[in-house]
Amino acid sequence: MEFTVEASGARRARTDCAIVGVHERADLSAIAKNLDRALGGRLTRILKGGDFSGRSGETLLVPDLGTGPAARVLLIGLGSRKAWNRRAYRRAALTAAQAVVKSGARDARFLIAAEPVPEVDAYYRARLAIEAMGQARYRIPDLKSSRKPAPARLARVRLVAAERGELAAMKRGVAHGAAIAAGMALTRDLGNLPANVCTPSYLGTVARRLAREHRAVRTRVLGEAELKRLGMGAFLSVTRGTAEPARLIVMEYRGGKAGEAPVALVGKGVTFDSGGISLKDPGGMDEMKFDMSGAAAVFGALKALAVLGAGINVVGIVPACENMPGSCATKPGDIVTSMSGLTVEVLNTDAEGRLILCDALTFSRRFRPAAVIDVATLTGACVVALGQHMSAVMSNSQVLADALLTSGRRAGDPCWQMPLGEEYQEQLKSNFADLANVAGREGGAVTAACFLWKFVDGLNWAHLDIAGTAYVSGANKGSTGRPVPLLVDYLLSRT
Ligand code: BES
Ligand code: MN
Ligand code: ZN
Repeated sequence: MEFTVEASGARRARTDCAIVGVHERADLSAIAKNLDRALGGRLTRILKGGDFSGRSGETLLVPDLGTGPAARVLLIGLGSRKAWNRRAYRRAALTAAQAVVKSGARDARFLIAAEPVPEVDAYYRARLAIEAMGQARYRIPDLKSSRKPAPARLARVRLVAAERGELAAMKRGVAHGAAIAAGMALTRDLGNLPANVCTPSYLGTVARRLAREHRAVRTRVLGEAELKRLGMGAFLSVTRGTAEPARLIVMEYRGGKAGEAPVALVGKGVTFDSGGISLKDPGGMDEMKFDMSGAAAVFGALKALAVLGAGINVVGIVPACENMPGSCATKPGDIVTSMSGLTVEVLNTDAEGRLILCDALTFSRRFRPAAVIDVATLTGACVVALGQHMSAVMSNSQVLADALLTSGRRAGDPCWQMPLGEEYQEQLKSNFADLANVAGREGGAVTAACFLWKFVDGLNWAHLDIAGTAYVSGANKGSTGRPVPLLVDYLLSRT
């Protein structure tokens, strides 16, 4: 797929499909009026005839327009001008991308990129549009035996800038959007693959492939013997119930200055979470193949940075294992010693994410990171609290939390801050060990974060709970690729 940028008003080659936005009440923007004139008033007639109103989500493909500037026009409803904002722009871009990918067009001109959007600059208009194209073109790596549908014919998209002065920013937006889309596609693939394919060793293979494809990436994959030597008793306690070997995957991306402190991204890589001896209910248990979505997001973010050659050092750390109820499985009440030396009473083997993450967070210290961000489908309580629209962010640094909140908002991949507090940490007290791994039902997302907080003394740390945002259930079940846009936005903002 090729993306280019051109200024509005420039002499243009004819396109297979012009994608035009219309606001509610058949309200044409200046750029749409120009096209309408070139098409002899065809759009005005369609709107007058009542076939299109401009409601958000509405699309109309007008084919066979003859020899004019466009063979087809794809009308996209932008909704009311009052509600025209970043989210409405993203939604319109995604609707447009899906419709044009479904059409027979080989190339398209995206005129919506020239529509002014309050508080969204040209860079983000371009980036969000390209991300939407990536989202729409994505296909699940399914294992259906029926013939695969023909790939989309669309090979080239030209984004239209409102004025020449926007061209440079939009070109940057296109490059960043394409890299983020590539990262998201990797994240979604890894999430969507079944747990019998996407095992911890498989993730190790993907990490090695990343290093092969990108010179700036170096990968190390540690096995259980090395984890034992490192003293990762908390991590190892989770993998005891399965025959599938655990892995600690370390990926270093070096795009910044030598010696510059890296950002560490730590991703929960539970490739299947049965709950262990504290076995989960069977309903929807298949979705626990998505319990490595944090890890998948770390892979995706690194992929995006490597594609861009971004000027930053990042280390991705992925503890990967299964959580299964085998005969050697950790039992409720067992006490394990984490790499930090803190002992943990495992009261519930289904609270396994924090056990693998605490050791990975301790491990991250050896990189002397400028910031550590862990990403995890950590708690069902987070889904109850925030639903599927926002990830939770907790941090011991308000500066870091604010940066992530801002990046989430800008990237259209929002998160919402939840607290940390000693009063919650007190709920983690154990009679038998330094702390317990669960703290009762109340405030579950917060107490989980407070467990991790015990392990990050002196680190500049944030935790993203993506249990509600990483994948969707139901008819469109699948990985969303979040929070790759948020992470990449944050990392790029540091360069
Ligand atoms: N992977 C789950 C969290 C989860 C639940 C993610 C639903 C996505 C959707 C995690 O390992 C877990 O089981 N957490 C428990 C913690 C509890 C035992 C304290 C939970 O949320 O129920
Ligand atoms: Mn669990
Ligand atoms: Zn889990």
